[in-house]
Amino acid sequence: MTSSRTFAGDPAAIRVEGLTKRYGRRTAVDDLSFTVGSGRVTGFFGPNGAGKTTALKAVVGLARPTAGRAFVRGTSATTIRPDARLLGVHIEPCGAHPGRTGRAHLRSLAALAGLSRRRVGEVLELVGLEEEAAKLRVGKYSMGMRQRLGLAAALLGDPEILVLDEPVNGLDPQGIRWLRTLLRDRAANGGTVLLSSHMLGEAAQTVDDVILIDRGRLVHEGAIRDLERSGESVVVVRTAEAERLSGLVARAGGRTKREDGDRLLVEGLGVAEVARLAHRDGVLLEEIVQRTASLEDAFFGLTGGAER
Ligand SMILES: Nc1ncnc2c1ncn2[C@@H]1O[C@H](COP(=O)(O)OP(=O)(O)OP(=O)(O)O)[C@@H](O)[C@H]1O
Ligand SMILES: [Mg+2]
Repeated sequence: MTSSRTFAGDPAAIRVEGLTKRYGRRTAVDDLSFTVGSGRVTGFFGPNGAGKTTALKAVVGLARPTAGRAFVRGTSATTIRPDARLLGVHIEPCGAHPGRTGRAHLRSLAALAGLSRRRVGEVLELVGLEEEAAKLRVGKYSMGMRQRLGLAAALLGDPEILVLDEPVNGLDPQGIRWLRTLLRDRAANGGTVLLSSHMLGEAAQTVDDVILIDRGRLVHEGAIRDLERSGESVVVVRTAEAERLSGLVARAGGRTKREDGDRLLVEGLGVAEVARLAHRDGVLLEEIVQRTASLEDAFFGLTGGAER
């Protein structure tokens, strides 16, 4: 691989290949490869400390990989020139001086990027930072306001690709809904979004694709729909004859697990099959329900939870 390597006509907006980042003896990102499709919102998920921020920094050229590389539209992240129209980034700390107003911060960014002052007013409106807020010193911003300012900065050049690290953090429910609409609109218009989060369930409505990492390594990559489908559902049964039903289920090819007391979890069989088995052998069921695995369950299943 040479440093001039590009992917001409690469359909991926972002391509990461064997990315490794070590801090001393600690490996934050470990041989990570993934692609981010154009015109899609991709969620970059993983528990705290999984390496999300580190990987995103490498993708946008803010951190130098120990090994491997990242490409944005076919150009290596280490050589890419800042281009506000190609790539908008929000990764904390956003670099705004606490003594400056939000508007002054955006104006200097706009000047650096060769963008008009008018655009500053537009993005402030877009992210819902009002006149008053724009005139306030950044040091006095709330977390949500800082988040909105960071988004405004990322949106300045109306970029084709947005990379946002935990953009939902600090936003209130209305703010989350507003951000979701904004990001979906951008994708609908051909824009690409890569956003990180440690909450898969919450972001599920926003993203098309999922990249899941744990301890710096790729755990899962694919469409969110497939992940939702892969979450196997479980049939929960309450019966005084759990033992006998377990035997019937096992003979029919299913698996069972005892849950507190008289409750039985059945995997591998549908609710109708379990009911039929019980009925056929006269096992009295006091309760039978289907419990669908949530995305959060899939997340915990894939990462082994957030515990360390
Ligand atoms: N500058 C640094 N120096 C040393 N270690 C670092 C540095 N930045 C990150 N790390 C370590 O790398 C690992 C990954 O950190 P990172 O911030 O990328 O995780 P994350 O997935 O973004 O977590 P979170 O959900 O908490 O934001 C952690 O163990 C962290 O301590
Ligand atoms: Mg992080």
